[in-house]
Amino acid sequence: MNKKTVRDIDVRGKRVLVRVDFNVPLAEGKVTDDTRIRAALPTIRYLIDQGARVILMSHLGRPKGQVKEDLRMAPVAARLSELLGQPVLTAQDCIGPQVQAMVQELKPGQVLLLENTRFHEEETKNDPEFARQLALLGDVFVNDAFGAVHRAHASTEGIAHYLPAVAGFLLEKEITFLGKALESPERPFAAILGGAKISDKIGVIENLLGKVDVLLIGGGMANTFFKAQGYDVGESLVEDESLDTARDMLARAGGKLVLPVDAVVADAFSADAQSKVVEVDAVPAGWRILDIGPKTVDLFKEKLAGAKTVVWNGPMGVFEFPKFAVGTVEIAKAVAALEAMTIIGGGDSVAAVEQAGLADKMSHISTGGGASLEFLEGKTLPGIAALADVGQT
Ligand code: 3PG
Repeated sequence: MNKKTVRDIDVRGKRVLVRVDFNVPLAEGKVTDDTRIRAALPTIRYLIDQGARVILMSHLGRPKGQVKEDLRMAPVAARLSELLGQPVLTAQDCIGPQVQAMVQELKPGQVLLLENTRFHEEETKNDPEFARQLALLGDVFVNDAFGAVHRAHASTEGIAHYLPAVAGFLLEKEITFLGKALESPERPFAAILGGAKISDKIGVIENLLGKVDVLLIGGGMANTFFKAQGYDVGESLVEDESLDTARDMLARAGGKLVLPVDAVVADAFSADAQSKVVEVDAVPAGWRILDIGPKTVDLFKEKLAGAKTVVWNGPMGVFEFPKFAVGTVEIAKAVAALEAMTIIGGGDSVAAVEQAGLADKMSHISTGGGASLEFLEGKTLPGIAALADVGQT
């Protein structure tokens, strides 16, 4: 990674303002999945050990510039405090004189979590004055919020114009894994893409096709390719506006792009729908594809055999319904069994791997949904671009 990290700067006694991605699910005032909080612990613990005054900030949900009581950071602070084994102070806001006074009182090794940055509409507008107000709270800025680096917001991008800005350990780890896969993968390099929509992943397919040895496509997005090949897919989800793109990709990809050969079809979109396995060119009228079939599982396993780098984003079927989770779980098992660098990129595929109990068998599970997708698309991510380069003074 060519960005400076928290290791490259002196933080002792300094006010270190850290952007974390604590956008975590809550229910009844409690954090229900603390993965993102745990992922930020190495940076936070390092700063505490170094005697820094640690000021954390994050967004939570999409309150659109309003103060929403159910999106306050207090439950996150409570969970973080349990994990750190020390108190985590909370502020009523993320800018202003009261918060500045709290920061002044902080002792080395103490941790303060600011209130939800998105309670101010200036945050998502990347308002320079709001960014400057945030910057008043720190001597240096550390970005450890990989999940939010695709957002050019005041707390992820704008602030870096006012303070020395470096990466935290989580950000470094994410960039290192995803970057290695894209820039210098050990080969063979296989990518697996799934999920409902092809339109969300056109950029990713385009970028990966130029880099991988094989690209396996499952999930609802495969349906658009089937229709582009002239198959009747019944009631399956298809994005007609992407048919030309799908045709074009198939023509350009040659043998690299591998589609399912059979599918589990259902007579309704429901967990207890009737189902059967058919060839992809034989979907009965009125039925819809909800999972890849057993021949496809075998085919995908064969294509994955021997792979040294694997990137996976998106489930192979509607894995929320146990009856249609088999394809996704089988692929998760196959990936977990490989002697390879295995990277699970974001969102639903992470949930699927966790549901299958295979998370600890993967080399890296990204904490970013949209961010990991945009990274795989090869886009410049504003939250990363804004950080100081190695060698920069
Ligand atoms: C996420 O959950 O993917 C990140 O926290 C970004 O959230 P956002 O999509 O609301 O910007």
